[in-house]
Amino acid sequence: MVRRANPAIQALKEETYIMSAVFDHGEFDHHEQIVFANDHQTGLKAIIGVHNSFLGPAAGGVRMAPYARMEDALTDVLRLSRGMSYKNALAGLPLGGGKTVLIGNPRTDKTPALMAALGRAIERLNGRYLAAEDVGMTLADMEQIATETSHVFGRDPKAGFGGEPSPMTALGVALSIRTCVRRVLGRDDLKGVRIGVQGAGAVGADLARQLGEAGAEVLVADVDPARAQAAASAAGGQVVGVGDILFADVDVLAPCALGAVLNDETIPALRTKIVCGAANNQLAEPRHGLALAQRGILYGPDYVVNAGGIINVAYEVSGTYDAAKVVEHVQRIPRTLEQIFEEAADEGLTPDVIADRMAQRLIGRS
Ligand code: NAI
Repeated sequence: MVRRANPAIQALKEETYIMSAVFDHGEFDHHEQIVFANDHQTGLKAIIGVHNSFLGPAAGGVRMAPYARMEDALTDVLRLSRGMSYKNALAGLPLGGGKTVLIGNPRTDKTPALMAALGRAIERLNGRYLAAEDVGMTLADMEQIATETSHVFGRDPKAGFGGEPSPMTALGVALSIRTCVRRVLGRDDLKGVRIGVQGAGAVGADLARQLGEAGAEVLVADVDPARAQAAASAAGGQVVGVGDILFADVDVLAPCALGAVLNDETIPALRTKIVCGAANNQLAEPRHGLALAQRGILYGPDYVVNAGGIINVAYEVSGTYDAAKVVEHVQRIPRTLEQIFEEAADEGLTPDVIADRMAQRLIGRS
């Protein structure tokens, strides 16, 4: 006799499996809500993470990437949305933290219908999650999403919105680099300071230009050689190979491309005194903050340094977008960074640990 699996037991097993995959996930960190959004007509597969809404609606970008495994997409959204809670809190914004990962290839899988389907999924959250642009998305995509929901920001400046957040991110990173240089090199200017910029995209290229204008000696690397060349020229600097930039002999390394660049392989070979850049989740694991400190390298915690973009978005959310007010707010990032460095030095802890602790207090988690 063939024994058939009891469908009810099978369903329970699957549910238990899925729940433990999410609730017991190493990065779960008590997320308030996780939505798996699916639309078979458009092929939408997205995960929206709402980490914490203690300070306000959860705000964070939509990232589109061709994740090889669903588990990778889940890990990414959990880490990124928690990072947004911390970032928004330390930037002094009335926003919680959230994030969306849209599974697919941004070069080949985007359609207006897919963006609209994501818009409907965001709308169903009724304003608990506010979307903005992140890696793999463009201003035009955000406008497509906005055809189905009003809970989307970083929209067209012609319509009175704040537009691309990346210039404000680049400004915040440049100001943070100055703070780190003052602390480590005891200098108020950047003349002749050697700075390596990994990634010459929206943020990295603008950052390189600002640093070049301030007199820094800028090295730029990008997997796209044309981008690297354009950014290096605008900065009056030079192009370096993508395999060399992390290990270049510089005063400051500014990762502006990928996460997890500070890891067991790279940290022992770094030749910089400071790491301060825009990329999210630069530390491969929390313990790498200590590994940097042990090598005498000052680390500007990524989510503190790169908050300029979300500050830009926050002024759109308030309905009173004002570019001058945004710049004023971004100029407060160095004060927070100095406070973090001071507390870290006083307590013998690393800046990333102090930043996390400050953020956890602000979102009611300690
Ligand atoms: P982007 O996609 O415009 O630029 C990334 C650049 O890195 C591209 O030019 C790409 O070719 C390059 N790249 C990729 N892999 C590389 C490698 N191995 N070596 C060298 N270059 C490589 O992204 P965007 O907007 O400039 O953001 C950069 C980083 O900053 C991302 O990690 C993003 O999450 C983070 N960030 C961006 C914000 C924004 O306002 N755009 C806000 C906060 C964080």
